[in-house]
Amino acid sequence: MSNSTVTAEMSGKMTIGGDLTVNRLGFGAMQLTGPGIWGDPKDPAEALRVLQRAVELGVNFIDTADSYGPFVSEQLIKKALHPYADDLIIATKVGVTRSGPNDWRPVGRPEYLRQQVELSLRHLGLERIDLLQLHRIDPKVPLAEQLGELALLQQEGKIRHIGLSEVSVDQLKSAEKIVKIVSVQNLYNLIKRDAEPVLQYTEANGIAFIPWFPLATGELAREGSPLDEIAKRLNAKPSQIALAWLLKRSPVMLPIPGTSKVAHLEENIAGAGITLSEEDFKTLSNLK
Ligand SMILES: NC(=O)c1ccc[n+]([C@@H]2O[C@H](COP(=O)([O-])OP(=O)(O)OC[C@H]3O[C@@H](n4cnc5c(N)ncnc54)[C@H](OP(=O)(O)O)[C@@H]3O)[C@@H](O)[C@H]2O)c1
Repeated sequence: MSNSTVTAEMSGKMTIGGDLTVNRLGFGAMQLTGPGIWGDPKDPAEALRVLQRAVELGVNFIDTADSYGPFVSEQLIKKALHPYADDLIIATKVGVTRSGPNDWRPVGRPEYLRQQVELSLRHLGLERIDLLQLHRIDPKVPLAEQLGELALLQQEGKIRHIGLSEVSVDQLKSAEKIVKIVSVQNLYNLIKRDAEPVLQYTEANGIAFIPWFPLATGELAREGSPLDEIAKRLNAKPSQIALAWLLKRSPVMLPIPGTSKVAHLEENIAGAGITLSEEDFKTLSNLK
C-alpha cells in the first residue's frame, strides 16, 4: 500500500472523556517551531503544509502547547486550519514557562494558568479548549490550587476536559480526587517504557494515554535490530513499525508523532496501515 492511500482512520478510533471521538493516530505540533522549540520555524510555509496535510490524511487530534515557541505552534495551527473542521480536536497545555531555547520551567500559580488558558483561546481562535493538559505539576504550588483553577475555567465553559502530563500513578490518583482527568501524556515508546505503570492505570480506568516522543527514531532505526529486520520484511520504515507497535499495545494509546516535514508526516501516517502479527508484536515487546 502506498503512503498516500493510508489515512489516520486506519488506526481505529477512541473516545476521550466520553464525548471526543478521534482517530488513534494524531499529530504532535511541537516540531513546527524554531530550534530548541523557540521562535519561528525556518520554513513557515512547510509548517503550514504539514498541518494541512495532516488533516487531509485524516488526523483529527492535534497536540500543542502555549509554550511551543512560545505561542508559535498554536498560531500556526490557527493560520493553517481555522475555521476548524467540526471533528478536529486541538489539545493544548499550560503550566510551563520559557526563558530561551530548550529551557522549560513549571509555573502552576492559578493566576498564571488562567492567563495562559485565555491566551491559548486567543491564539487558537477558539471559544473553548476541548482538552487542556497541565503541562507539568508545579511542586511549589499545591496541586489543589493548580487543578482547582482549571476546574473553575471548566465551569466557566473555557475548557471542556482536563488532562495531565508527566505524572506518576500516585499523582494521577491525587489529581482524580480534585477533578475528572480524561488523559495523561507521558514519555513512552518501544524502547523507553518507564511509564508502563501509568499506562496500565489509564487502561484500567478508561483514560486516554498519549505517549510523547513516540518514535525515538534514531535508536529504533538502528541497523540490524529486530525492529529493522521486521521493518524490512514488511517493506516499512522503522518509525512506522514503532507506531504500529504503540497502536497495538493498548486501545487507550493515542500516539502524536511530531515532524516539521510533509514527507515524514506522510511516512508516519502510513504507519496506521500496518498491522503487526502477534509474533512480531511479541518480538518487539521483548526488545530492551
Ligand atoms: N508533554 C510533554 O512534556 C511533551 C514533551 C515532548 C513532546 N510532546 C508532544 O509529543 C509530540 C511528539 O514528540 P516529539 O515530536 O518530541 O518526538 P517524536 O514524535 O518521537 O519524534 C520527532 C523527531 O523525529 C523526527 N521524525 C519524525 N518523523 C520522522 C520520520 N518519518 N523519519 C525520520 N525522522 C522523523 C522529527 O524530525 P523532522 O522534523 O526532521 O521530521 C523529530 O526530530 C510533540 O510534537 C509534542 O506535541 C509532549
